[in-house]
Amino acid sequence: MLPEPKFTALDDALYGYMLAHRSPDDEVVRELREETARLGGPAVMQVAPEQATFLRMLVAATGARRAVEVGTFTGLSSLSIARGLPVDGRLLCLDVSEEWTALARRAWAKAGVAERVELRIAPAAETLRALPEQPTFDFAFIDADKKGYPVYWEEILRRLRPGGLIVADNVLWDGDVVRPEAQDEDVVAIRRFNELVLADPRVESVMLAIADGLTIARKLL
Ligand SMILES: C[S@@+](CC[C@H](N)C(=O)[O-])C[C@H]1O[C@@H](n2cnc3c(N)ncnc32)[C@H](O)[C@@H]1O
Repeated sequence: MLPEPKFTALDDALYGYMLAHRSPDDEVVRELREETARLGGPAVMQVAPEQATFLRMLVAATGARRAVEVGTFTGLSSLSIARGLPVDGRLLCLDVSEEWTALARRAWAKAGVAERVELRIAPAAETLRALPEQPTFDFAFIDADKKGYPVYWEEILRRLRPGGLIVADNVLWDGDVVRPEAQDEDVVAIRRFNELVLADPRVESVMLAIADGLTIARKLL
């Protein structure tokens, strides 16, 4: 007989407890979260605090030196990735918004990691396609428009070194991925992306229930 499924559902109290029991955010992160909250509605796009901690630790633990992020917004995930890199590491950030990424630039400067980060403002598919073909990246974070995920996946995976990681956000889409009545274009795109990852023989992958769901995929040798 198979064992009972093993997971702990979160409520607000348990989530608060979990957030309080990780390494605390510093002043740069606290300020960035406050500034982003003042934007109102768009603030929902920011990665969750525990995702930010997790990204930094994942980058540091894997020894990644060259990273790419698709979807920078006000900069919390990029700040985390940049902080996980060594001093001579490099992070290429892709976004279409000068306005939102202006906050990111300030946070990178305050944290002393601005020299590690290059920001390109253009549709990410165009920027990625124009990059050299040879393996370039050790680590990638995908968190932009959901319809674009398959293109970002393909363009990054071919430039990822064997053993490198691609992390993709929002793969549970608030649980809508398993609700047949949910058919808006974002959830359809996320379902399609999840199937594409599953069927891709070039990677091994796991989906983690952190925030809105993270897929971590490792390129096989
Ligand atoms: C969910 S937010 C990213 C959140 C960010 N990772 C953080 O930690 O705050 C998505 C971002 O993708 C950007 N975006 C949307 N479509 C894009 C595209 N075609 N190319 C590049 N960036 C895009 C948006 O401008 C937005 O800043």
